[in-house]
Amino acid sequence: MHRLIPSRRLRRSLMFCLSSLLILCLSVFPTSPTKAKTTLNVAIEPTFPPFELLGKNGELDGFDVDLFKAIAKAADFDLKFQTMQFDGMIPALQAKTVDAAIAAMTITAERQKVVDFSRPYFKSGLAIAIPANNKNITSLASLENKSIAVQIGTTGAAEAAKIPGAKIRTFDAAPLVLQELLNGNVDAALNDAAVTLYAIKQNNLDKIKIIDQLLTEEYYGIPTPKNSPSLDAINKGLTVILSDGTYDRLYQKWFNAKAPQLPETVNFAKSNSSVNSTSSIIFKAMPNLLQGVLVTLYLTAFSVILGMIGGSLIGIARLSRIPLLRWATRAYIDFFRGTPLLVQIFMIYFGLPALMQGFGINFNLGRLAASVIALSLNSAAYIAEIVRAGIQSIETGQAEAAQSLGLGTVETMRYVIFPQALRRMLPPLGNEFITLLKDTSLVAVIGFEELFQQGRLIVANNYRAFEIYAAVALIYLVLTVLSSRIFSWLERWMNPVNKSREADLEIDSK
Ligand code: ARG
Repeated sequence: MHRLIPSRRLRRSLMFCLSSLLILCLSVFPTSPTKAKTTLNVAIEPTFPPFELLGKNGELDGFDVDLFKAIAKAADFDLKFQTMQFDGMIPALQAKTVDAAIAAMTITAERQKVVDFSRPYFKSGLAIAIPANNKNITSLASLENKSIAVQIGTTGAAEAAKIPGAKIRTFDAAPLVLQELLNGNVDAALNDAAVTLYAIKQNNLDKIKIIDQLLTEEYYGIPTPKNSPSLDAINKGLTVILSDGTYDRLYQKWFNAKAPQLPETVNFAKSNSSVNSTSSIIFKAMPNLLQGVLVTLYLTAFSVILGMIGGSLIGIARLSRIPLLRWATRAYIDFFRGTPLLVQIFMIYFGLPALMQGFGINFNLGRLAASVIALSLNSAAYIAEIVRAGIQSIETGQAEAAQSLGLGTVETMRYVIFPQALRRMLPPLGNEFITLLKDTSLVAVIGFEELFQQGRLIVANNYRAFEIYAAVALIYLVLTVLSSRIFSWLERWMNPVNKSREADLEIDSK
């Protein structure tokens, strides 16, 4: 009897093991058709209507979005969208941080070297947009020596680069390109025809028009990383919706026209350019990067000088006995310190001219002026606080002593307080200088070609993000380290203890 007990236990545990094994097997190798769907991470830039846009409730919408959703349904996978700037998409695909992008992206030979494309899904072309009252620009040839706005990394930008003497203004997004044209800052804009036409129609932009003839014939495709396992499914889904009428229906919905015939592939003449080494990539980029350095430096210098003048005045006014003055300077500092510099740049460059034009005043700011104004207004706020703190740090006894010697208020400030305060202000001023030097990179958003923007422009052409941005970072580092050395040297030079020691040494040596 006794022996039965362990064997029953054994049987029970055996049963338990078997059933758990069965459950495990069922969950690992499901026999039912509930196979988990794959989800593709898809990069999208929803500022390219009618292809990508945000709907009334902030949801993603547009021809491309509908199309990709239909493809995913036909080929049974899920989509997860992730917004990203257009010029960041190919680097992101190369790095495999996304599985695909949907961005009205033209299939080009250059891009095909670094990513794979689905079969073509849209026929498109570039068109020139100009002010409605312009009669001189009639073709690509008449754009010679003109200023042209384009979106970074697009075929429009590449085409504009080929025009002799053209001054190219590069922006992050297509709406900014059109805004630039509307504000009268450029002679023309080069963009995908369908996008410009849609913008003109949707927003009743009667101040601009499009030159009818298309400059190029392009086909959009869905890019994926090279040799991506998802490409097959995307192509299958696309083939299904092209033949079952879904594509035609979507085309009709968004373009109010019959869909044109699409080829199955786009072929380019074979070019046998090889992949360049890192050093040759950086070597080739150097002239442009150095040009960017020059721009960064003069932008910093201008802004620091104006910021110093403005900041000192505001800092002193902040200590005034007049309440209104104190209150106004306080409000100024609060505003410029409390709002992002990027927003201030947009307000000054895009907002101000648009506002003035609303009042019927023709006003536009060049990019240099707008950049310098934004950077100096912003740094003046910080410098004002540095100046105020510096002045307040000087003991009141000093002013009393100066005044008892018969110096007036201005003289006391000039000869007694300010020279001492300046020495205390130097370290925070050095910090501010370095911050400003790095913040100049923000004006890249208005297409100003300082160091960072030069880097982006190079990456938009050669798709070598890592090497180029590493080089850009290194150059900023050299600039900031150099400036901090200069400030330390200035601090030592202005230190009276050192000066008297030097004087002592001089006397000793005589
Ligand atoms: N088709 C043009 C190109 O591929 C412009 C695309 C811009 N797309 C965008 N989502 N902003 O270069």
